[in-house]
Amino acid sequence: MPAPPADARTFLTECASVEPCGEDGVILRLKRDEPLPPLRAARFFMLSADVPGFPTIPRPFSVYRQESGELEFLIKVMGRGTRALADLSLGTTVRVTGPLGNGWPEIDGDAHAVMLAGGIGSAPFFMAIEQALAGSHGSKLEASDMTLVYGAATKGFLYDIERFAALGVRVVAATDDGTDGFHGNALEALKQGWETGEIPTDCRLYACGPDPMLRATERLARERELECWLSLEDLMGCGVGICNGCPVPTLPEGAMGDWPNAKCCVEGPVFSIADVTL
Ligand SMILES: Cc1cc2nc3c(=O)[nH]c(=O)nc-3n(C[C@H](O)[C@H](O)[C@H](O)COP(=O)(O)OP(=O)(O)OC[C@H]3O[C@@H](n4cnc5c(N)ncnc54)[C@H](O)[C@@H]3O)c2cc1C
Ligand code: FES
Repeated sequence: MPAPPADARTFLTECASVEPCGEDGVILRLKRDEPLPPLRAARFFMLSADVPGFPTIPRPFSVYRQESGELEFLIKVMGRGTRALADLSLGTTVRVTGPLGNGWPEIDGDAHAVMLAGGIGSAPFFMAIEQALAGSHGSKLEASDMTLVYGAATKGFLYDIERFAALGVRVVAATDDGTDGFHGNALEALKQGWETGEIPTDCRLYACGPDPMLRATERLARERELECWLSLEDLMGCGVGICNGCPVPTLPEGAMGDWPNAKCCVEGPVFSIADVTL
């Protein structure tokens, strides 16, 4: 039976700051006296706060950045839970369970790494790029080995894009309304990059974003026979494998094929399309 990771625990943190980010987002910093060991990008935490309006069930968020004793989360306000987190006051206690999930696999230099982010789906990529540049989980990549294709409906949903660009990798912005970068979605921008030769066709895809974007990424990767990993942002009840609230259909021939569904929270949130299908 898949189980929560051995390093996961529940602990209390303090809100160190909440800064606005983009049109409807915030960067939430949580401080803990005892810093956590370095975390793999795309692992996540369940957050809850005992403040008016916060739902009974904690909400999952990818770790965005980790600096000294602080954990940073890039959060888009969607409903009650995210609104309450965005409105936290300095010093408010936040209950944290994690780190949970698997995180991205090693991003090695065998093929160009194309990271496809849709809106708030950029959150698990910041540390992924930092870690690949530093060689923290295997091969040390050059900035020229990676491209971030960052798509959103409009410019205001390209959260913190300047900070991604400051990492030195190629960042291709794409907006549905043409307010920034390529006029169209992230996959159209990728295809154009392939056509112009700006993005190598010999690549691996890593994607996080809304479901339609992830389904289209899976289709494209299968058509082109590219290796592809998706970080899924399913709705979650518990985050630790108990509630069965996060099923992901498996492929019979894949590594998880002896059961029709994987659990996104404990076997993901990152899956290879060799193992699951959306
Ligand atoms: C592993 C994981 C990592 C995540 N990382 C981040 C992150 O880094 N930053 C971030 O902003 N969000 C992230 N999310 C999504 C985040 O958990 C949800 O946006 C949040 O739970 C919404 O809570 P709420 O109470 O504000 O909204 P609710 O009141 O629960 O919902 C408001 C509306 O949003 C919809 N909704 C809620 N959750 C999702 C979802 N996951 N996908 C699509 N629609 C949804 C609901 O159906 C409803 O229409 C992540 C989710 C997972 C599973
Ligand atoms: S969220 Fe409860 S089993 Fe995955």
